[in-house]
Amino acid sequence: MKNLASMGLKYENKRLLVLNQQVLPQQEEWIISNTIDEMIQIIKTLKVRGAPLIGVAAALALAQYAEQEETTAKQIINAANQLKQARPTAVNLSFCIDRLLACYQKSNADRQVLIKEAEIVFEEDAKLCHDIINHGEKLIAKNDSVLTHCNTGGLVTTGIGTALGIIIHSHKQGKNPHVFVDETRPLLQGGRLTAWECVKNGISHQIICDNMAASLMREGKINKIFVGADRIAANGDFANKIGTYNLAVLAYYHKIPFYVAAPYTTVDLQCKTGKDICIEERHPDEIKGVMGAFGKVTWSPQESQVYNPAFDVTPVDLITAIILDSGCYSPLQFQQTFSF
Ligand code: MRU
Repeated sequence: MKNLASMGLKYENKRLLVLNQQVLPQQEEWIISNTIDEMIQIIKTLKVRGAPLIGVAAALALAQYAEQEETTAKQIINAANQLKQARPTAVNLSFCIDRLLACYQKSNADRQVLIKEAEIVFEEDAKLCHDIINHGEKLIAKNDSVLTHCNTGGLVTTGIGTALGIIIHSHKQGKNPHVFVDETRPLLQGGRLTAWECVKNGISHQIICDNMAASLMREGKINKIFVGADRIAANGDFANKIGTYNLAVLAYYHKIPFYVAAPYTTVDLQCKTGKDICIEERHPDEIKGVMGAFGKVTWSPQESQVYNPAFDVTPVDLITAIILDSGCYSPLQFQQTFSF
């Protein structure tokens, strides 16, 4: 496979490297993935994360495995199936792996075809960001005050990002957006990673706790909301990081435009509505304390039970528009395009 490089993922001289998102921004640590099992662990532990990037990372891991002459076709197919199960909610993971497998099988198990397809997946992801931004940029006006949730920038794509990509682009255009960054409990993708990307890009921003959004909206401090997605159903309902639904309800009440940005690889027409989307549940320790570069701190009683869904589903009627690489769709336009 040829050398490939993005903000959070690299293939360099036959080494697959991942920027460890669990320890950012305290440490910028690149870790090496040598095997399928290692990549599965990297995905499960969110060292690589975000819907588009877990798909691309898994694709590169499979291609790296296929590069080893001794691996058989049966082993490649088994590895693909294991990778697909690493996390359940973001459809991009199975989409990318199925795409590689389809090419591989169509070519009578030509491993070079699979490897080439992984390169295409990597490069296409950056282009998709560019196309999303082209459709989304007009939605941001000069001096807008924008709220975003989780992390949807260069760390989770091979390009500039999706929802955060639109914001970064508008900043580069001189529109001077101010960003309220939801910290995004429990794993703080906003407070750690989106804030880090804002700092890197010189974007004016303030981190807020997730429970502050309502009063900021009432005070008129937020005039647009941009989020990403992990899976968009055919009717436009979508799954994204837990807390997104809260924001959508609040935005609806306060009449604030609410935008979802994602590549076509996030749309799953097999899911008719959000009810068909499988929501990942994660380990109780994520809620009972914090983990990461600062070590592990637990504050809840050991005996306490925890419910930790990593994502929620936002119904389509709360969305102003869905921004894909192919265009910007109102809910009705989205349904007319994808539902029938
Ligand atoms: O659990 P994570 O950090 O992988 O969740 C990520 C999100 O929910 C993102 O908002 C989503 O994947 C879109 S990334 C462009």
